[in-house]
Amino acid sequence: MFHLHLLSKYRCTLSALSLITSLSVCFLPSGLLQLNTVCAGFHQDLNAFTVHGKSRYPGLYIWTRDGKKVSVKVPDGCLLVQAGMQAEYATGGHVLAGFHEVVVQPKTIEAIEAAKKSEKSLWRISSTCFTHFASDRTLQPLGKFAGVAGAADKYPPIKVGQ
Ligand SMILES: [Fe+2]
Repeated sequence: MFHLHLLSKYRCTLSALSLITSLSVCFLPSGLLQLNTVCAGFHQDLNAFTVHGKSRYPGLYIWTRDGKKVSVKVPDGCLLVQAGMQAEYATGGHVLAGFHEVVVQPKTIEAIEAAKKSEKSLWRISSTCFTHFASDRTLQPLGKFAGVAGAADKYPPIKVGQ
């Protein structure tokens, strides 16, 4: 399996927010891929929000707030917006950073085989936009979240870049 992760970074100076776009490219020769191959291990993102475009091949799993693992199906014309650790911090835990992973599942293998039969590309391309608060800003529960009991203790003021 060949995996290339390209990162193009540009700052959109909307005061305290920056955007980083990522283009993830993965070649999927079915002979090398096996069911349950982990392409991206279980994790949360460090940023504020992650915006996922629709990928050609399924494999992204997310965990719901109550701990249920769900295979993601992004409808055509839609994006998936996922909260990261900065959003959790700014909301004092009201919004939780989402756990997720990318694993080869039966539908991934089916999609690869269908692509091979129709001579379509075996490159898995996913474009993702990561939004971050500016690294020199103070990160702490904001607005109404600052007054929630326990939030200030669990999420004390820190610099975003810490
Ligand atoms: Fe991630």
